[in-house]
Amino acid sequence: MSNFVSVTRDGGVAVVTIDNPPVNALSFHVREPLMQALVSLRDEPDVSAIVIACAGRTFIAGADITEFGKPVQQPDLRAIIAMLETIAKPTVAAIHGTALGGGLELALGCHFRIADSQATLGLPEVKLGLLPGGGGTVRLPRLVGPLKALSMIVSGTPIGAAEALAAGLIDAVFDGALTGQAVRFASEMAGKGGPFTPVRDRDGRLDKVDLAAFDKAAAELAKKARGLAAPIACAQSVRNAMTLPFEEALVAERELFAKLVAGDQSRAQRHLFFAEREAAKVAGKDIVRRKIARVGVIGAGTMGGGIAMAFANGGFSVTVLEATQEALQRGLAMIDKNYAVSVSRGSLSEDNKRQRLGLFKGSTAYDDLADCDLIVEAVFEEMAVKKEVFGRLDAVAKPGAILATNTSYLDVNEIAASTSRPQDVVGMHFFSPANVMKLLEIVRAEKTAPDVLATIVELARRIAKVPVVVGVCHGFVGNRMLAARGTESEALLLEGATPQQIDRVFTDFGWPMGPFQMGDLAGLDTGWRNRKARGQTAMIADTLCKQGHFGQKTGRGFYLYENGSRTPAPNPEVEALIRDKAAEKGIAPRAIGADEIIERTLYPMINEGAKILEEGIAARASDIDVVWVKGYGFPVGKGGPMFWAGLEGLDKIIGRLDHWHERTGKDFFKPAPLLRQMAETGAWEGVAS
Ligand code: 3HC
Ligand code: NAI
Repeated sequence: MSNFVSVTRDGGVAVVTIDNPPVNALSFHVREPLMQALVSLRDEPDVSAIVIACAGRTFIAGADITEFGKPVQQPDLRAIIAMLETIAKPTVAAIHGTALGGGLELALGCHFRIADSQATLGLPEVKLGLLPGGGGTVRLPRLVGPLKALSMIVSGTPIGAAEALAAGLIDAVFDGALTGQAVRFASEMAGKGGPFTPVRDRDGRLDKVDLAAFDKAAAELAKKARGLAAPIACAQSVRNAMTLPFEEALVAERELFAKLVAGDQSRAQRHLFFAEREAAKVAGKDIVRRKIARVGVIGAGTMGGGIAMAFANGGFSVTVLEATQEALQRGLAMIDKNYAVSVSRGSLSEDNKRQRLGLFKGSTAYDDLADCDLIVEAVFEEMAVKKEVFGRLDAVAKPGAILATNTSYLDVNEIAASTSRPQDVVGMHFFSPANVMKLLEIVRAEKTAPDVLATIVELARRIAKVPVVVGVCHGFVGNRMLAARGTESEALLLEGATPQQIDRVFTDFGWPMGPFQMGDLAGLDTGWRNRKARGQTAMIADTLCKQGHFGQKTGRGFYLYENGSRTPAPNPEVEALIRDKAAEKGIAPRAIGADEIIERTLYPMINEGAKILEEGIAARASDIDVVWVKGYGFPVGKGGPMFWAGLEGLDKIIGRLDHWHERTGKDFFKPAPLLRQMAETGAWEGVAS
């Protein structure tokens, strides 16, 4: 008995209960008493069956991630599972909440698994840059077949109880008090008398799939791995389950796990796991949150429509307000169309679509916003328009309603000052498409009340967003850091690089796409309008826009998209345009290497990140990483720009920033004092770990 593992008896059935809040991770202080309890129950003649269950909100959510990278303390999970498999009496895992990673692997060591109808089960290790290291890749295929195991392990996505039952992963689903059902189930099994075959010995499904079919499926998945080692290792390990004897496959799995857990990619992904959770913490745990039931969204354009959908998807009633009936109808029709696409893709049922559309109310009258608890403004990016909208909101919104702006760049303090209630004003910076992208930058203005901030942070998770609190500055964290990258990408073109070459360096780095493909996808006109508003220019992009070439939507941009294709093809006219403009500026083209592209586009981003930390715009370096991974597609295997800076080496980065600063005189290359200080004191390790 320990504080973390207890044993009770119900007739001849022993119930081992793990109680390690919040998620019953398999920490050393759980493993040790768990092993002892199982050994003694195995040998007790009065015990006819054993149930493993968990207290609290969930079954075991996996190994204790905080223990990775440290020496393993015995007994490890594999030893416990191996011991479980020596027990002749029936063993039953009773699963409620989530059985994930090592939690599911422990359950796979039992003869039987039963689950609550709401439970989910999965092996999400791949999301931490790992593969299941407790025999999951070798046992799961024996229960659900190699192809299903491959898809579950490589995607890392958990499945529900009904699917798990159909796949053969679990033996029964129950509603209501699970432990009692598990005891009954176990006692019934004990009554049958056995012998009970451990999962390791159930080879029947392994040779039902031929290797060629498996390899084809694995190759398809590998294409999506984008430089990540873990998905490939997962597939290899499931393949081993088919081709090697059990014990050998298990050893091979262990070796692959050891390699991954010690590698930078897994370190990066574990860093992001904790960074995301840390970012969602705001001071004042006990602050009473404001109640949010009805949400208003002003502007039903690109962003407003997506924002409204994000709230409806989270179950909120939404009033959408537009300037004119025509714009309103257009916006609502777009929402309708987006849901219809989800239905046609099979990701939304017709019923759910109807239910969600039923949550919307359209209006052109501000008075209709009077019953909203939160109103998010997504109108044109012009201070005068924003101020007018906030002035009108001030007049109609009920006392205590939260007034949010989705501005990308504008000063939220100034917007707040146009109301009589700046304490209720906050920035909610969504990313496009707002119903899909996970990131939400929450902009805390000077006067934003603590309970407003806490309410919005909590709300973000209810609409499946990842919140990061940031301060007021031009472009906040993400767009501010993006600026130098845009300027340098254009400069590199004039000096001799092509859009394809630069984009290729980005995709080789692990980004889903490079800056020019991204610009074409988002619409070059957006950046153009922004530059014009700020009196800035970008020689090549501006010329394309003046010619009416906005990217994918017009079929031409930095690339060609012929006959509605979404695949970018090189655009000879752009290459000629670049040469002409370079000649006009007297720049002789030269060969530019991948290193230079990285140094000039990514290093200034890190430099800007350091300035953002110096100014307190972001509270932690890890918050910046979350912004970049969740909002801009920074490769997860590199952990975000600040974590990657640690891998790349601060001394190297500073040296090259100095070099480019000297050579170009551009301010954004000048190393931030914090960066130098961190390099000198070695403090970066702490910041970016
Ligand atoms: N180890 C250590 N801490 C963990 C943990 C784990 N496996 N899982 C969650 N936590 C911590 C979180 O860091 C958080 O801590 P905090 O409150 O101090 O910030 C707390 O538990 C609650 O977590 P969430 O905020 O994520 O709670 P939710 O209710 O939103 O989600 C969950 C619960 C779905 C279980 C989610 O936490 C999760 O997905 N956890 C990770 C699951 C996972 O990846 N398991 C595999 C681990 S690797 C493994 O098992 C290797 C094996 O094969 C050998
Ligand atoms: P958009 O031009 O697609 O939509 C703006 C909508 O606001 C239009 O439908 C317009 O009719 C409506 N509108 C204008 N004035 C109004 C008023 N007074 N009352 C009611 N409706 C009004 O613009 P988009 O792209 O949706 O941008 C909106 C805001 O979101 C801007 O502040 C922008 O900076 C920000 N943003 C944009 C992102 C993007 O990728 N497009 C990303 C993140 C933020």
